[in-house]
Amino acid sequence: MSSHGTPIPMISAACGPLTGEAHVPGDKSISHRSLILGAMCVGETRISGLLEGEDVLDTAKAMRAFGAEVEDLGGGNWRVYGVGVGGFAEPENVIDCGNSGTGVRLIMGAMATSPITATFTGDASLNGRPMARVTDPLALFGAQSYGRAGGRLPMTIVGAPEPLPVRYVVPVPSAQVKSAVLLAGLNAPGQTVVIEKEATRDHTERMLAGFGATIITEVTDEGRVITLTGRPELKAQEIVVPRDPSSAAFPVCAALIVPGSDVLVPNIGLNPTRAGLFTTLQEMGADLTFENLREEGGEPVADLRARFSPDLHGIEVPPERAASMIDEYPVLSVVAAFAKGDTVMRGVKELRVKESDRIEAMASGLRAGGVTVEDGPDWWIVKGAGHGNVAGGMEAVSHLDHRIAMSFMIMGMASNAPVRVDDGAPIATSFPVFEPLMKALGAEIRRS
Ligand code: S3P
Repeated sequence: MSSHGTPIPMISAACGPLTGEAHVPGDKSISHRSLILGAMCVGETRISGLLEGEDVLDTAKAMRAFGAEVEDLGGGNWRVYGVGVGGFAEPENVIDCGNSGTGVRLIMGAMATSPITATFTGDASLNGRPMARVTDPLALFGAQSYGRAGGRLPMTIVGAPEPLPVRYVVPVPSAQVKSAVLLAGLNAPGQTVVIEKEATRDHTERMLAGFGATIITEVTDEGRVITLTGRPELKAQEIVVPRDPSSAAFPVCAALIVPGSDVLVPNIGLNPTRAGLFTTLQEMGADLTFENLREEGGEPVADLRARFSPDLHGIEVPPERAASMIDEYPVLSVVAAFAKGDTVMRGVKELRVKESDRIEAMASGLRAGGVTVEDGPDWWIVKGAGHGNVAGGMEAVSHLDHRIAMSFMIMGMASNAPVRVDDGAPIATSFPVFEPLMKALGAEIRRS
Protein backbone atom coordinates (compact mmCIF):
# COMPACT_ATOMS: atom_id res chain seq x y z
CA MET A 1 0.00 0.00 0.00
CA SER A 2 1.34 3.35 -1.04
CA SER A 3 0.79 4.94 2.34
CA HIS A 4 2.92 2.36 4.10
CA GLY A 5 5.74 2.56 1.57
CA THR A 6 8.49 4.98 0.70
CA PRO A 7 7.38 8.20 -1.03
CA ILE A 8 8.14 8.35 -4.76
CA PRO A 9 8.91 11.94 -5.82
CA MET A 10 8.18 12.49 -9.51
CA ILE A 11 8.96 15.24 -12.02
CA SER A 12 7.20 16.01 -15.25
CA ALA A 13 8.55 18.43 -17.84
CA ALA A 14 7.40 20.03 -21.08
CA CYS A 15 7.37 17.53 -23.92
CA GLY A 16 6.75 17.22 -27.64
CA PRO A 17 3.33 16.24 -28.95
CA LEU A 18 1.57 13.36 -27.20
CA THR A 19 0.48 10.85 -29.79
CA GLY A 20 -0.85 7.31 -30.01
CA GLU A 21 -3.38 5.18 -28.17
CA ALA A 22 -3.85 5.18 -24.41
CA HIS A 23 -5.37 1.96 -23.07
CA VAL A 24 -6.41 3.02 -19.57
CA PRO A 25 -7.33 0.46 -16.87
CA GLY A 26 -10.77 -0.80 -15.86
CA ASP A 27 -13.29 1.36 -14.04
CA LYS A 28 -12.54 1.62 -10.32
CA SER A 29 -16.16 2.01 -9.20
CA ILE A 30 -17.36 -0.94 -11.27
CA SER A 31 -14.37 -3.08 -10.20
CA HIS A 32 -15.14 -2.66 -6.47
CA ARG A 33 -18.81 -3.43 -7.04
CA SER A 34 -18.17 -6.53 -9.14
CA LEU A 35 -16.02 -8.06 -6.38
CA ILE A 36 -18.49 -7.18 -3.62
CA LEU A 37 -21.60 -8.34 -5.45
CA GLY A 38 -19.73 -11.40 -6.72
CA ALA A 39 -19.05 -12.24 -3.06
CA MET A 40 -22.73 -11.73 -2.16
CA CYS A 41 -24.23 -14.08 -4.72
CA VAL A 42 -24.30 -17.83 -4.99
CA GLY A 43 -21.96 -19.42 -7.50
CA GLU A 44 -19.11 -18.28 -9.67
CA THR A 45 -18.86 -14.74 -11.02
CA ARG A 46 -16.27 -14.10 -13.73
CA ILE A 47 -14.85 -10.62 -14.10
CA SER A 48 -12.70 -9.41 -16.99
CA GLY A 49 -10.94 -6.05 -17.24
CA LEU A 50 -10.82 -5.63 -13.46
CA LEU A 51 -8.74 -2.65 -12.33
CA GLU A 52 -5.78 -4.18 -10.52
CA GLY A 53 -4.98 -1.02 -8.55
CA GLU A 54 -4.28 -1.09 -4.81
CA ASP A 55 -7.79 0.11 -3.88
CA VAL A 56 -9.49 -2.75 -5.69
CA LEU A 57 -6.93 -5.34 -4.54
CA ASP A 58 -7.72 -4.30 -0.96
CA THR A 59 -11.40 -4.96 -1.64
CA ALA A 60 -10.52 -8.38 -3.11
CA LYS A 61 -8.62 -9.21 0.12
CA ALA A 62 -11.53 -8.00 2.21
CA MET A 63 -13.99 -10.23 0.34
CA ARG A 64 -11.73 -13.21 1.10
CA ALA A 65 -11.75 -12.21 4.77
CA PHE A 66 -15.57 -12.33 4.72
CA GLY A 67 -15.48 -15.88 3.33
CA ALA A 68 -15.70 -15.52 -0.45
CA GLU A 69 -13.23 -17.26 -2.74
CA VAL A 70 -11.52 -14.66 -4.90
CA GLU A 71 -9.00 -15.82 -7.46
CA ASP A 72 -6.79 -13.85 -9.81
CA LEU A 73 -6.75 -15.77 -13.10
CA GLY A 74 -4.25 -13.37 -14.71
CA GLY A 75 -4.60 -10.71 -17.37
CA GLY A 76 -7.34 -8.80 -15.57
CA ASN A 77 -9.53 -11.92 -15.32
CA TRP A 78 -10.87 -12.82 -11.90
CA ARG A 79 -13.17 -15.43 -10.46
CA VAL A 80 -15.30 -14.86 -7.34
CA TYR A 81 -17.15 -17.68 -5.66
CA GLY A 82 -19.77 -15.99 -3.53
CA VAL A 83 -21.31 -16.90 -0.18
CA GLY A 84 -24.82 -15.59 -0.92
CA VAL A 85 -26.77 -12.66 0.59
CA GLY A 86 -26.42 -12.86 4.39
CA GLY A 87 -23.65 -15.47 4.06
CA PHE A 88 -20.64 -13.39 5.13
CA ALA A 89 -18.39 -14.99 7.75
CA GLU A 90 -16.91 -12.90 10.55
CA PRO A 91 -13.38 -11.80 9.56
CA GLU A 92 -10.61 -13.07 11.82
CA ASN A 93 -8.63 -9.88 11.54
CA VAL A 94 -8.91 -6.14 10.96
CA ILE A 95 -9.98 -5.20 7.40
CA ASP A 96 -7.46 -2.75 5.92
CA CYS A 97 -9.04 -0.81 3.04
CA GLY A 98 -5.85 1.17 2.35
CA ASN A 99 -6.71 4.45 0.62
CA SER A 100 -10.18 3.50 -0.54
CA GLY A 101 -13.29 5.33 0.62
CA THR A 102 -15.37 3.36 -1.87
CA GLY A 103 -14.01 0.05 -0.60
CA VAL A 104 -14.59 0.72 3.09
CA ARG A 105 -17.98 2.39 2.76
CA LEU A 106 -19.45 -0.22 0.43
CA ILE A 107 -18.10 -3.12 2.48
CA MET A 108 -19.44 -1.61 5.71
CA GLY A 109 -22.85 -1.50 4.07
CA ALA A 110 -22.56 -5.03 2.73
CA MET A 111 -21.78 -6.54 6.18
CA ALA A 112 -23.95 -4.29 8.38
CA THR A 113 -27.08 -6.43 8.14
CA SER A 114 -25.37 -9.72 9.03
CA PRO A 115 -24.85 -10.91 12.64
CA ILE A 116 -21.08 -10.44 12.50
CA THR A 117 -18.59 -7.88 13.76
CA ALA A 118 -15.77 -6.37 11.71
CA THR A 119 -13.15 -3.72 12.36
CA PHE A 120 -12.01 -1.47 9.52
CA THR A 121 -8.92 0.66 9.09
CA GLY A 122 -7.02 2.40 6.30
CA ASP A 123 -4.11 4.68 5.56
CA ALA A 124 -3.65 8.16 7.01
CA SER A 125 -5.87 9.67 4.29
CA LEU A 126 -8.74 7.22 4.74
CA ASN A 127 -8.53 7.33 8.55
CA GLY A 128 -9.13 11.09 8.36
CA ARG A 129 -12.29 10.85 6.23
CA PRO A 130 -15.86 11.06 7.55
CA MET A 131 -17.66 7.74 8.07
CA ALA A 132 -20.76 8.98 9.91
CA ARG A 133 -22.36 9.56 6.51
CA VAL A 134 -22.44 5.75 6.23
CA THR A 135 -22.82 4.66 9.85
CA ASP A 136 -25.84 6.99 10.37
CA PRO A 137 -28.03 5.13 7.84
CA LEU A 138 -26.56 1.76 8.87
CA ALA A 139 -27.75 2.47 12.43
CA LEU A 140 -31.32 2.65 11.08
CA PHE A 141 -30.97 -0.97 9.97
CA GLY A 142 -29.89 -1.81 13.55
CA ALA A 143 -26.10 -1.90 13.07
CA GLN A 144 -23.84 -0.38 15.70
CA SER A 145 -20.56 1.40 15.11
CA TYR A 146 -17.66 2.29 17.38
CA GLY A 147 -15.05 4.53 15.85
CA ARG A 148 -12.71 7.37 16.70
CA ALA A 149 -13.86 10.91 17.40
CA GLY A 150 -15.66 12.53 14.49
CA GLY A 151 -16.75 9.16 13.12
CA ARG A 152 -13.28 8.27 11.86
CA LEU A 153 -11.58 4.92 11.25
CA PRO A 154 -10.43 2.63 12.76
CA MET A 155 -14.01 1.63 13.38
CA THR A 156 -15.86 -1.50 14.41
CA ILE A 157 -19.26 -2.32 12.95
CA VAL A 158 -21.51 -4.73 14.82
CA GLY A 159 -23.95 -6.03 12.22
CA ALA A 160 -27.69 -6.05 12.95
CA PRO A 161 -28.84 -9.56 13.91
CA GLU A 162 -32.43 -8.73 12.92
CA PRO A 163 -32.19 -5.90 10.41
CA LEU A 164 -35.10 -3.64 9.55
CA PRO A 165 -35.60 -2.19 6.08
CA VAL A 166 -34.91 1.51 5.80
CA ARG A 167 -36.16 4.59 3.97
CA TYR A 168 -33.27 7.02 3.71
CA VAL A 169 -32.80 10.39 2.07
CA VAL A 170 -29.08 10.72 1.34
CA PRO A 171 -28.09 14.14 2.75
CA VAL A 172 -24.97 14.61 0.58
CA PRO A 173 -24.55 13.76 -3.10
CA SER A 174 -22.66 10.49 -2.61
CA ALA A 175 -22.79 7.26 -4.58
CA GLN A 176 -20.82 5.60 -1.79
CA VAL A 177 -23.51 6.37 0.79
CA LYS A 178 -26.31 5.38 -1.58
CA SER A 179 -24.50 2.14 -2.37
CA ALA A 180 -23.77 1.32 1.28
CA VAL A 181 -27.50 1.62 2.07
CA LEU A 182 -28.50 -0.50 -0.93
CA LEU A 183 -25.96 -3.21 -0.09
CA ALA A 184 -27.18 -3.25 3.52
CA GLY A 185 -30.75 -3.43 2.22
CA LEU A 186 -29.91 -6.68 0.43
CA ASN A 187 -30.07 -8.61 3.70
CA ALA A 188 -33.01 -6.72 5.25
CA PRO A 189 -36.53 -8.08 4.77
CA GLY A 190 -39.01 -6.01 2.76
CA GLN A 191 -38.17 -2.92 0.76
CA THR A 192 -35.31 -0.54 1.36
CA VAL A 193 -35.78 2.87 -0.22
CA VAL A 194 -32.96 5.30 -0.92
CA ILE A 195 -33.69 8.81 -2.13
CA GLU A 196 -31.07 11.03 -3.69
CA LYS A 197 -31.78 14.63 -4.56
CA GLU A 198 -29.03 14.74 -7.16
CA ALA A 199 -28.20 11.83 -9.44
CA THR A 200 -24.87 10.22 -8.58
CA ARG A 201 -23.16 7.34 -10.39
CA ASP A 202 -25.62 4.49 -10.72
CA HIS A 203 -23.31 1.49 -11.15
CA THR A 204 -24.66 -0.22 -8.01
CA GLU A 205 -28.25 -0.01 -9.23
CA ARG A 206 -27.32 -1.28 -12.71
CA MET A 207 -25.24 -4.11 -11.32
CA LEU A 208 -27.82 -5.16 -8.72
CA ALA A 209 -30.38 -5.45 -11.51
CA GLY A 210 -27.86 -7.45 -13.54
CA PHE A 211 -27.37 -9.86 -10.61
CA GLY A 212 -31.14 -10.42 -10.51
CA ALA A 213 -32.28 -8.14 -7.65
CA THR A 214 -35.59 -6.31 -7.94
CA ILE A 215 -34.60 -2.65 -7.95
CA ILE A 216 -36.65 0.21 -9.35
CA THR A 217 -35.63 3.84 -9.82
CA GLU A 218 -38.30 6.49 -10.14
CA VAL A 219 -37.62 10.15 -10.79
CA THR A 220 -40.00 12.19 -8.63
CA ASP A 221 -40.18 15.71 -7.14
CA GLU A 222 -38.20 14.36 -4.18
CA GLY A 223 -35.38 13.23 -6.48
CA ARG A 224 -34.38 9.74 -7.56
CA VAL A 225 -36.30 7.21 -5.46
CA ILE A 226 -34.60 3.80 -5.55
CA THR A 227 -36.52 0.85 -4.15
CA LEU A 228 -34.75 -2.45 -3.53
CA THR A 229 -36.53 -5.64 -2.49
CA GLY A 230 -34.47 -7.35 0.21
CA ARG A 231 -33.23 -10.93 0.47
CA PRO A 232 -33.00 -11.70 -3.24
CA GLU A 233 -31.09 -14.69 -4.47
CA LEU A 234 -28.40 -12.98 -6.50
CA LYS A 235 -27.23 -14.95 -9.51
CA ALA A 236 -23.58 -15.16 -10.51
CA GLN A 237 -22.63 -13.05 -13.52
CA GLU A 238 -20.05 -12.57 -16.25
CA ILE A 239 -18.89 -8.98 -15.90
CA VAL A 240 -16.86 -7.04 -18.44
CA VAL A 241 -15.52 -3.92 -16.72
CA PRO A 242 -15.41 -0.89 -19.07
CA ARG A 243 -12.31 1.34 -19.01
CA ASP A 244 -12.40 4.13 -16.46
CA PRO A 245 -13.49 7.60 -17.67
CA SER A 246 -11.84 9.06 -14.56
CA SER A 247 -8.49 7.59 -15.65
CA ALA A 248 -9.11 8.52 -19.31
CA ALA A 249 -9.37 12.13 -18.09
CA PHE A 250 -5.58 12.31 -17.59
CA PRO A 251 -4.33 11.45 -21.12
CA VAL A 252 -7.30 13.40 -22.58
CA CYS A 253 -6.49 16.57 -20.62
CA ALA A 254 -2.76 16.20 -21.31
CA ALA A 255 -3.44 16.02 -25.07
CA LEU A 256 -5.54 19.19 -24.93
CA ILE A 257 -2.73 21.26 -23.39
CA VAL A 258 0.43 19.83 -25.01
CA PRO A 259 0.96 21.48 -28.44
CA GLY A 260 0.55 19.19 -31.45
CA SER A 261 -0.99 16.28 -29.52
CA ASP A 262 -3.45 13.77 -30.94
CA VAL A 263 -4.38 10.92 -28.60
CA LEU A 264 -6.97 8.16 -28.93
CA VAL A 265 -8.33 6.66 -25.69
CA PRO A 266 -10.35 3.60 -26.69
CA ASN A 267 -13.27 1.82 -24.97
CA ILE A 268 -14.19 4.39 -22.35
CA GLY A 269 -17.35 3.96 -20.29
CA LEU A 270 -19.55 7.02 -20.85
CA ASN A 271 -22.33 6.41 -18.35
CA PRO A 272 -24.04 9.83 -18.15
CA THR A 273 -23.55 9.85 -14.36
CA ARG A 274 -19.77 9.86 -15.01
CA ALA A 275 -19.18 11.81 -18.20
CA GLY A 276 -19.57 15.44 -17.06
CA LEU A 277 -15.91 16.32 -17.58
CA PHE A 278 -16.06 15.64 -21.31
CA THR A 279 -19.08 17.92 -21.79
CA THR A 280 -17.31 20.62 -19.77
CA LEU A 281 -14.12 20.34 -21.84
CA GLN A 282 -16.10 20.63 -25.07
CA GLU A 283 -17.80 23.77 -23.71
CA MET A 284 -14.31 25.16 -23.02
CA GLY A 285 -13.42 24.73 -26.68
CA ALA A 286 -11.62 21.37 -26.47
CA ASP A 287 -11.07 19.40 -29.65
CA LEU A 288 -12.54 16.24 -28.17
CA THR A 289 -14.61 13.78 -30.16
CA PHE A 290 -16.40 10.53 -29.42
CA GLU A 291 -15.78 7.88 -32.03
CA ASN A 292 -17.40 4.49 -32.50
CA LEU A 293 -20.19 5.14 -29.92
CA ARG A 294 -21.72 1.82 -28.84
CA GLU A 295 -23.25 -0.12 -25.91
CA GLU A 296 -21.25 -2.72 -24.00
CA GLY A 297 -22.52 -4.63 -20.98
CA GLY A 298 -25.39 -2.17 -20.54
CA GLU A 299 -23.10 0.88 -20.47
CA PRO A 300 -22.50 3.41 -23.28
CA VAL A 301 -18.90 3.20 -24.51
CA ALA A 302 -16.86 5.20 -27.04
CA ASP A 303 -13.30 5.85 -28.20
CA LEU A 304 -12.25 9.35 -27.18
CA ARG A 305 -10.01 11.38 -29.45
CA ALA A 306 -8.37 14.45 -27.92
CA ARG A 307 -6.24 16.89 -29.87
CA PHE A 308 -4.25 19.93 -28.79
CA SER A 309 -6.70 22.80 -28.33
CA PRO A 310 -5.04 26.23 -28.58
CA ASP A 311 -8.20 28.24 -27.94
CA LEU A 312 -9.47 26.90 -24.63
CA HIS A 313 -11.51 29.39 -22.61
CA GLY A 314 -12.83 29.39 -19.06
CA ILE A 315 -16.49 28.65 -18.34
CA GLU A 316 -18.86 28.48 -15.39
CA VAL A 317 -19.31 24.76 -14.72
CA PRO A 318 -22.99 24.13 -13.90
CA PRO A 319 -23.19 23.02 -10.23
CA GLU A 320 -25.80 20.39 -11.15
CA ARG A 321 -23.11 18.68 -13.22
CA ALA A 322 -20.77 18.30 -10.23
CA ALA A 323 -21.69 14.74 -9.27
CA SER A 324 -21.05 13.48 -12.80
CA MET A 325 -17.46 14.78 -12.76
CA ILE A 326 -16.66 14.92 -9.05
CA ASP A 327 -13.33 13.09 -9.39
CA GLU A 328 -12.28 15.16 -12.39
CA TYR A 329 -12.13 18.67 -10.86
CA PRO A 330 -8.41 18.40 -10.01
CA VAL A 331 -7.37 17.74 -13.61
CA LEU A 332 -9.99 20.19 -14.90
CA SER A 333 -8.33 22.88 -12.78
CA VAL A 334 -5.07 22.17 -14.63
CA VAL A 335 -6.74 22.53 -18.04
CA ALA A 336 -8.39 25.71 -16.71
CA ALA A 337 -4.94 27.16 -15.97
CA PHE A 338 -4.07 26.79 -19.69
CA ALA A 339 -7.40 28.26 -20.82
CA LYS A 340 -8.05 31.98 -21.18
CA GLY A 341 -10.27 33.53 -18.52
CA ASP A 342 -12.01 32.27 -15.42
CA THR A 343 -13.20 28.73 -14.85
CA VAL A 344 -15.77 28.90 -12.08
CA MET A 345 -16.57 25.72 -10.15
CA ARG A 346 -19.40 25.92 -7.62
CA GLY A 347 -21.36 23.41 -5.53
CA VAL A 348 -18.28 21.30 -4.92
CA LYS A 349 -18.08 21.07 -1.11
CA GLU A 350 -17.58 17.29 -1.43
CA LEU A 351 -14.13 17.94 -2.92
CA ARG A 352 -12.98 18.91 0.56
CA VAL A 353 -13.56 15.37 1.95
CA LYS A 354 -12.02 13.21 -0.78
CA GLU A 355 -8.68 11.41 -0.47
CA SER A 356 -7.46 14.93 0.35
CA ASP A 357 -9.07 18.36 0.50
CA ARG A 358 -8.84 18.59 -3.26
CA ILE A 359 -9.62 22.30 -3.53
CA GLU A 360 -6.87 23.14 -1.04
CA ALA A 361 -4.37 20.66 -2.54
CA MET A 362 -4.85 21.89 -6.11
CA ALA A 363 -5.18 25.58 -5.24
CA SER A 364 -1.92 25.65 -3.28
CA GLY A 365 0.05 23.77 -5.95
CA LEU A 366 -1.40 25.85 -8.78
CA ARG A 367 -0.65 29.09 -6.91
CA ALA A 368 2.94 27.96 -6.30
CA GLY A 369 3.15 27.36 -10.05
CA GLY A 370 2.07 30.91 -10.88
CA VAL A 371 -1.67 30.39 -11.39
CA THR A 372 -4.21 32.64 -9.68
CA VAL A 373 -6.87 30.66 -7.80
CA GLU A 374 -9.62 31.93 -5.52
CA ASP A 375 -11.57 29.58 -3.28
CA GLY A 376 -14.30 29.37 -0.67
CA PRO A 377 -15.99 26.55 1.26
CA ASP A 378 -17.81 25.09 -1.75
CA TRP A 379 -16.38 26.93 -4.74
CA TRP A 380 -13.18 27.81 -6.52
CA ILE A 381 -12.17 29.87 -9.51
CA VAL A 382 -9.08 29.26 -11.64
CA LYS A 383 -7.98 32.36 -13.51
CA GLY A 384 -6.53 30.92 -16.68
CA ALA A 385 -3.47 32.56 -18.17
CA GLY A 386 -3.59 30.75 -21.52
CA HIS A 387 -1.09 28.51 -23.31
CA GLY A 388 2.55 29.37 -22.78
CA ASN A 389 1.79 31.45 -19.70
CA VAL A 390 1.77 28.83 -16.93
CA ALA A 391 5.04 29.07 -15.00
CA GLY A 392 5.16 25.70 -13.16
CA GLY A 393 8.56 25.15 -11.55
CA MET A 394 7.18 24.25 -8.12
CA GLU A 395 6.96 21.20 -5.90
CA ALA A 396 3.36 20.17 -5.25
CA VAL A 397 2.21 18.00 -2.34
CA SER A 398 0.02 15.02 -3.24
CA HIS A 399 -1.42 14.40 0.27
CA LEU A 400 -1.74 10.63 -0.38
CA ASP A 401 -4.15 11.48 -3.21
CA HIS A 402 -3.65 9.74 -6.57
CA ARG A 403 -5.64 12.30 -8.53
CA ILE A 404 -3.69 15.23 -7.09
CA ALA A 405 -0.39 13.54 -8.01
CA MET A 406 -1.53 12.77 -11.58
CA SER A 407 -3.03 16.23 -12.09
CA PHE A 408 0.26 17.95 -11.27
CA MET A 409 2.14 15.52 -13.53
CA ILE A 410 -0.18 16.64 -16.36
CA MET A 411 0.45 20.30 -15.48
CA GLY A 412 4.23 19.78 -15.81
CA MET A 413 3.80 18.54 -19.39
CA ALA A 414 2.81 22.00 -20.65
CA SER A 415 4.26 24.41 -18.04
CA ASN A 416 7.27 26.63 -18.68
CA ALA A 417 9.30 24.87 -15.96
CA PRO A 418 9.04 21.26 -14.71
CA VAL A 419 6.61 20.36 -11.94
CA ARG A 420 7.68 18.09 -9.08
CA VAL A 421 5.30 16.10 -6.89
CA ASP A 422 6.55 15.04 -3.45
CA ASP A 423 4.96 11.58 -3.68
CA GLY A 424 3.58 9.84 -6.74
CA ALA A 425 3.19 6.47 -4.98
CA PRO A 426 -0.60 6.95 -4.46
CA ILE A 427 -1.06 6.81 -8.25
CA ALA A 428 -0.93 3.01 -7.88
CA THR A 429 -4.27 3.05 -6.06
CA SER A 430 -6.25 3.71 -9.27
CA PHE A 431 -3.92 3.92 -12.29
CA PRO A 432 -0.88 1.69 -11.77
CA VAL A 433 0.25 2.05 -15.41
CA PHE A 434 -0.04 5.86 -15.51
CA GLU A 435 3.69 6.49 -15.80
CA PRO A 436 4.53 3.99 -18.61
CA LEU A 437 1.30 4.84 -20.45
CA MET A 438 1.99 8.59 -20.44
CA LYS A 439 5.66 8.04 -21.37
CA ALA A 440 4.62 5.85 -24.32
CA LEU A 441 2.55 8.81 -25.59
CA GLY A 442 5.64 11.02 -25.38
CA ALA A 443 5.49 12.49 -21.86
CA GLU A 444 8.69 13.36 -19.97
CA ILE A 445 8.19 11.92 -16.52
CA ARG A 446 10.98 10.86 -14.23
CA ARG A 447 11.36 9.80 -10.65
CA SER A 448 13.68 11.87 -8.52
C1 S3P B 1 -17.40 6.58 -5.91
C2 S3P B 1 -18.15 7.67 -5.54
C3 S3P B 1 -17.59 9.01 -5.37
C4 S3P B 1 -16.21 9.15 -6.03
C5 S3P B 1 -15.34 7.97 -5.73
C6 S3P B 1 -15.97 6.69 -6.23
C7 S3P B 1 -18.05 5.27 -6.03
O1 S3P B 1 -17.47 9.29 -4.00
O2 S3P B 1 -15.59 10.33 -5.61
O3 S3P B 1 -14.06 8.12 -6.34
O4 S3P B 1 -17.47 4.34 -6.62
O5 S3P B 1 -19.18 5.13 -5.52
P1 S3P B 1 -18.68 9.88 -3.11
O6 S3P B 1 -19.71 8.85 -3.00
O7 S3P B 1 -18.04 10.19 -1.79
O8 S3P B 1 -19.11 11.10 -3.85
